[in-house]
Amino acid sequence: MATVTDVRNAPKKAALPQIRQTQLFIGGQWIPAKSGKTFETCNPATEEVIAQVAEGDAADVDAAVRAAREAFDSGPWPRMNARERGRLIHKLCDLIEGEIDELAALESLDNGKPVSDARLGDIPLALDALRYYAGWADKIHGQTIPVSGNFFTYTRREAVGVAGQIIPWNFPILMTAWKWGPALATGCTVVMKPAEQTPLTCLRLARLAQKAGIPDGVINVVPGFGPTAGAAIVKHPGVDKVAFTGSGETAQIIMRQAADSLKRLTFELGGKSPNIVFADADLAAAAAGAHVGIYLNQGQCCCAGSRLFVEDSIHDAFVDTIVAMSRSRKVGDPFDPATEQGPQVDQAQFDKIMGYIAQGKQEGATCATGGKRVGTKGFFIEPTVFTNVKDEMAIAREEIFGPVLSVLKFSDTDELVRRANATNFGLAAAVWTRDIARAHDVARRLRAGTVWVNCYDVFDAAAPFGGYKRSGFGRELGERGLDGYLETKTVTVSLDPPGR
Ligand code: NAI
Ligand code: MG
Repeated sequence: MATVTDVRNAPKKAALPQIRQTQLFIGGQWIPAKSGKTFETCNPATEEVIAQVAEGDAADVDAAVRAAREAFDSGPWPRMNARERGRLIHKLCDLIEGEIDELAALESLDNGKPVSDARLGDIPLALDALRYYAGWADKIHGQTIPVSGNFFTYTRREAVGVAGQIIPWNFPILMTAWKWGPALATGCTVVMKPAEQTPLTCLRLARLAQKAGIPDGVINVVPGFGPTAGAAIVKHPGVDKVAFTGSGETAQIIMRQAADSLKRLTFELGGKSPNIVFADADLAAAAAGAHVGIYLNQGQCCCAGSRLFVEDSIHDAFVDTIVAMSRSRKVGDPFDPATEQGPQVDQAQFDKIMGYIAQGKQEGATCATGGKRVGTKGFFIEPTVFTNVKDEMAIAREEIFGPVLSVLKFSDTDELVRRANATNFGLAAAVWTRDIARAHDVARRLRAGTVWVNCYDVFDAAAPFGGYKRSGFGRELGERGLDGYLETKTVTVSLDPPGR
């Protein structure tokens, strides 16, 4: 098996993957859309069409929900020995490991991320989540509860039912795993809509789930667009719960549309996460953390450290370091294993980011490096650092979702905490300091679902992840990640002997 170093040292480009699955996956069948329609998915590095994919809409979603409903209401999945469900999830992981290079290449081709990122980051993290939840399958249990009177009361934790899962394009494999892991472990069945920009790897994973022996109808995948296929999942009365990752604007639409059927909702939305560097920090580590924190995945991360707060006494020297690091970041062909940054996912995201760069300049921030397109083909953008950023500027308030860092200066800790929290978002934050009391104090005062201390973007399947405020609600990963897929049933039994 290839190791980490094998891939990093590989002199040659990764091989192009085969595109095998482009149809809808419903009830264990690979089928075209009822409308016969297809849509194009593109390679963002070349802007070339790589495949035509079946375009699902309400009619296909209805078929998928029926299949998922039947698999839940009368199929083997929620009824089988829970340990067996765990075993099948592990089997899926074994099959993913067997095709890891091909999957990494497919992810890179459809999304534009460097193939080495997919191979060394996304897929190992996806496996971590699936295997972690495979382990939970037979460890989900209720409580016995002492109640007044002659009664025995206990709770059962039961699968919520059919889960509608709508995911974005920034981490297609990883988001699929984060959604399928807890759903499968709890015995739910799934109707998933991958993002229209990146449907290919989710379909590939569905094929592997089928090969692993996960019963027909447990996982259904309907590629298509948000207002058609996505909205149909949200409105369908046969769907018990919707798990969504994406933009706040779309979450608001989903919440309104889910009101009619009072669906359970979990949302993982955007962020404008503060990354805070105190003067006493290990500055080399902090600079590396600031670099990864903003540029990972071309800046297309919900938890990107896009507001870099730097203590004034070290500000100028620290900025020099991160500007130099930004200039040496290797932007280019995602299939070159040495590439660190690929293209943005599509023209719309490219345009949005370039718009923010123009606005940052216009509002008076200093573009210390970057700010331009790279090349003439593909959606590549230079790693970009803005200094002299004021809190009220758009580039300091709004989610850019690109390789654009806003640097802000601070001097006082109380003032810093107030400014860091002065946002509608609350997904993540980081603090860099050698002062242990200050680290814990600031971590406690930040209103965010994740706080990293002297690190950034550290993920583990056991550690819950999710947002405060408009960054969402509910948690993914960890034991808390099961909650969104479980109901609690209370059973109370009279202990009075019969006939008394
Ligand atoms: P989006 O939220 O519109 O799309 C995410 C998913 O929701 C896709 O599968 C899409 O088809 C689906 N969707 C869209 N409209 C829907 C509807 N009415 N009903 C049901 N599903 C629907 O995000 P988009 O347009 O791709 O990106 C816009 C911005 O959102 C980005 O620039 C970024 O700021 C943010 N975003 C945040 C993400 C995160 O990880 N938190 C991921 C992707 C985008
Ligand atoms: Mg959208």
